[in-house]
Amino acid sequence: MVAPPRFVPLAFERLPEDEQLARSRDFLAGMRARRSVRDFSRESVPTEAIENAVATAATAPSGAHQQPWSFVVVSDPDVKRRIRIAAEEEERRSYESRMPDEWLEALRQLGTDWRKPHIDDAPFVVVVFEQAYGLRADGTKVKHYYVRESVGIAVGLLLASLHLAGLATLTHTPSPMGFLREILGRPENERPYVLIPVGYPAEGCVVPDLERKSLEDVVVRV
Ligand SMILES: Cc1cc2nc3c(=O)[nH]c(=O)nc-3n(C[C@H](O)[C@H](O)[C@H](O)COP(=O)(O)O)c2cc1C
Repeated sequence: MVAPPRFVPLAFERLPEDEQLARSRDFLAGMRARRSVRDFSRESVPTEAIENAVATAATAPSGAHQQPWSFVVVSDPDVKRRIRIAAEEEERRSYESRMPDEWLEALRQLGTDWRKPHIDDAPFVVVVFEQAYGLRADGTKVKHYYVRESVGIAVGLLLASLHLAGLATLTHTPSPMGFLREILGRPENERPYVLIPVGYPAEGCVVPDLERKSLEDVVVRV
């Protein structure tokens, strides 16, 4: 028998309008300054900031509240090195022969290539896994719904938390990235979703000169 749903009172703080707007403007200004960083300092960062960001990510809404994610926080230099070697091997093959010209053309403005020193240099690498399905204690499978959407929202919260804590990140998807499951010993129901080096930018770090679409470019008012 399935238990009936239980309800509790909502904890909700109604803000005065000026406070609402002040908070939303502050958040916007903070997030506008986020950039993907590919050149990291080796300086360490507070572990608690990483764990708070993971805890923040885990507040994300998820399909049927299945919370289909795991966040592997890697700081061991040997493990980071193994990840870098495997990522560079895949990326070298992708850049040299697997990516179609159209893809390489789209990436040109970023100035990226197969080299991934950020995986070694950043003091932490957070590897996010999506759980394609759940596993009960007896080994049977639980179907998961809207896995990619749920994990994408969680990663957005993770990136926002890290950025607003004054840390730099890269959203990195070495392609293909099946090697991450093996190196990190994750179970068969988990698939690598994204790899996120976290740390401080290296001295003199530069980023591509990119323009974001304006509000008017992206909003549709009906
Ligand atoms: C799903 C996803 C995958 C990405 N994969 C890579 C990647 O593998 N390597 C990389 O250098 N940047 C990667 N990026 C970062 C984008 O290139 C970057 O977000 C974009 O150029 C905009 O720059 P900004 O993040 O500084 O605003 C990825 C971003 C997303 C959202």
